Amino acid sequence: MTLTPQEATVASVDVPMLRNDVYRRPLATALDRLAVGSGWRVVDVGAGAGDVAVALAEIVGRAGRVYAVDSDPVARDETARAAAAHSQVLAITQRAEDLRLPEPLDLAFCRFLLLHVIDPVAVLARMADAVRPAGWVVAQEPITSAGRVGGRPLSMPDARHPDVGALLPALVREAGLVLEDAWAEAPAGSGPGPVASYLEDLTGVSPGDDPIVLPPLVTVLARKGDGER
Ligand SMILES: C[S@@+](CC[C@H](N)C(=O)[O-])C[C@H]1O[C@@H](n2cnc3c(N)ncnc32)[C@H](O)[C@@H]1O
Repeated sequence: MTLTPQEATVASVDVPMLRNDVYRRPLATALDRLAVGSGWRVVDVGAGAGDVAVALAEIVGRAGRVYAVDSDPVARDETARAAAAHSQVLAITQRAEDLRLPEPLDLAFCRFLLLHVIDPVAVLARMADAVRPAGWVVAQEPITSAGRVGGRPLSMPDARHPDVGALLPALVREAGLVLEDAWAEAPAGSGPGPVASYLEDLTGVSPGDDPIVLPPLVTVLARKGDGER
């Protein structure tokens, strides 16, 4: 997979400090569209500090199960802490490339993961293997260079595929999934507020009153075939 590098750099975005608040709306949109409900069995791949896993646990309830998978053992500990009140969350240290869970799932989800992995299609294919026939694979990934501060593009030099969101609808099809829907959402703002403080946390530089459009998150809703011809 080839991505075109951006020349203009206004800020180097360090993703591990992601905060859930500004990207909560795209998550809610995706989960509403799927009508995720009580009893669902799901995995959040590249779960980080567990924000999404906790949100999923509140929806699937005690009758459901949330596997929170991350390659970093520190993330497993953070998720276990964040989800201490939710016994339906199981935090696991595992690489997305080796994803293997004890039961077929209704949904495999990832957010801000594929931009970091070597082969996003291979990871999407592992997620497809993890779900039951007709189960869902949902990914939310950024187009970093489409973000703007004061009209100038953002960049993320540490990510392997900072603009993977722009390719996502094609990548799920390459992974053998059926693309059901796709769209992009970007938090935006100017002056004090959650968007400005999010950017300041990431870059260490206050954007002041500059207009900000954070990297749009592309959501894909994709389905595994049901095995019938
Ligand atoms: C930017 S964070 C995103 C965290 C969370 N998904 C969110 O949206 O808040 C990326 C996470 O993916 C994990 N990660 C990176 N490469 C991975 C891989 N190959 N397999 C599993 N997890 C991986 C990192 O350890 C990190 O916790």
